[in-house]
Amino acid sequence: MAAIFEATCTAPVNIAVVKYWGKRDTSLILPTNSSLSVTLSQDQLHSKTSIRASADFTTDRLWLNGIEESIEKNKRLVACLRETRALRATLEAENATLPKLAGLKIHICSENNFPTAAGLASSASGYACLVYTLSKLFELPLDASDLSIVARQGSGSACRSLFGGFVAWEMGEKADGSDSRAVQIAPETHWPDLQAMICVVSDEKKGTSSTEGMQLTVKTSALLQHRIKDVVPKRMDDMIAAIHAKDFPKFAELTMQDSNQFHAVCLDTYPPIFYMNDISRAIIRIITEYNKDGVKAAYTFDAGPNAVIYAPKENMAEIYSILSHYFPGAAFDDSLSLVKENSEKVAAGLP
Ligand code: ADP
Ligand code: DP6
Ligand code: CO
Repeated sequence: MAAIFEATCTAPVNIAVVKYWGKRDTSLILPTNSSLSVTLSQDQLHSKTSIRASADFTTDRLWLNGIEESIEKNKRLVACLRETRALRATLEAENATLPKLAGLKIHICSENNFPTAAGLASSASGYACLVYTLSKLFELPLDASDLSIVARQGSGSACRSLFGGFVAWEMGEKADGSDSRAVQIAPETHWPDLQAMICVVSDEKKGTSSTEGMQLTVKTSALLQHRIKDVVPKRMDDMIAAIHAKDFPKFAELTMQDSNQFHAVCLDTYPPIFYMNDISRAIIRIITEYNKDGVKAAYTFDAGPNAVIYAPKENMAEIYSILSHYFPGAAFDDSLSLVKENSEKVAAGLP
C-alpha cells in the first residue's frame, strides 16, 4: 500500500452585514459590489473537511455529508483543486526533497454541523474549509488573504471565512481577480460584547441557489444597479466606521437596512425570488417593535428564511425569551420550528 497523506480542518460560517449579491465575472467569481461580514464562532456552525492523497487512489472523489457527489461536474471545486495543485507543483519543482503530492488523486470528506444550502452560508464555510485543508495538505506558504482568492473561486462568500472577526471582501478592479480578496477589518477580540443568535426557521434546501438567484438578479433588476452604484460604497465606509467605533445602534441600523435592500432586490428580480417566509417577516416585526425605544438588536437574512440576530450580550436572554414567546416550540412542526443555538460570542479563526 502506498503512503497516505492527510489533513483535517474546520472552518466557520460568516454572515454578511453588507451583502454580496451579483457577479461581474461568473467563472472567476468577481462580485458587482464589495461586502462585509462577521465570522461566527466555530462552536456554533462549522464545516469539517478531511482530505487524503494517495498513489493508490485512481480518481478524485468527494463525500458531502456522507453522500458521494461528482467532482467533475462541479467546476468550482475543480478550480480550487487546480489552483492549489498548481501551487504545490511549483513548490515541488523548487524543492526536490518534497513528497510528490501535486500529481496524486485525492479523496475529500466534508460535513456541515448545520443545514446545507438553507441560507446559513454552508458554501462559505464549506469552500473556506476545502481550500484551507488543501493548503495544509500541500503545505502551501500562503497567508489568509492569498487563500481567500482561491476560496472565492469556490463560492464568493467563502473568501471571508478565512478570517475571524469583521471581514471585508474588496471587490477589486482587475480582470484576473488578483485584487478581489478578503481583508480583516477588526479581529474577533475587538468587540467581545457583540453576539449572534441563529434562528433556524427552516432547514430545507432553498428553491433557488445563491448562484442562480444572483445571476437572474444581475440580468433583470434595475434596483441592483442603484444598490451597487449609489448605496453600497458609502454603506461599506459607514459600516467599517461603526465597527471601529463599536457603535451598536449604527451597526444594527446599517445591517437591517442592507438585509432589507438585498431582499428588495430579490423581489425586483424577474421572475421574483422570495427567500423570506411569513416567519421571517414576523421576526422582522418583533425585532422592530423591540427596537422602538432604541436599537437593541439587528436581524439579517441571507438567501433563505433563517434569521441571524446580532445584539449586545446583555440583550440576548431577553431577545430569546421574546422570540420563544411568539414561537413556542409546540406551535410548529419540524420544518417550521424555531431553534435557538447557544448564543455565542462572535469569535473565530481557523485552527
Ligand atoms: P448556502 O446558503 O448554504 O451557502 P448555497 O446555495 O450558496 O447555499 O450553496 C450550497 C452549496 O455549497 C451546496 O449545494 C454544495 O455544493 C456547496 N457546499 C456546502 N457545504 C459544503 C462543504 N462542506 N464542502 C463543499 N461544498 C459545500
Ligand atoms: C446572500 O457566496 O453563496 O449570503 O458565490 O455563487 O457561491 P456563490 O454565492 P454565495 O452567495 C452569498 C449571498 C449572501 C450574501 C453574502 O454572504 O454576502
Ligand atoms: Co452560499
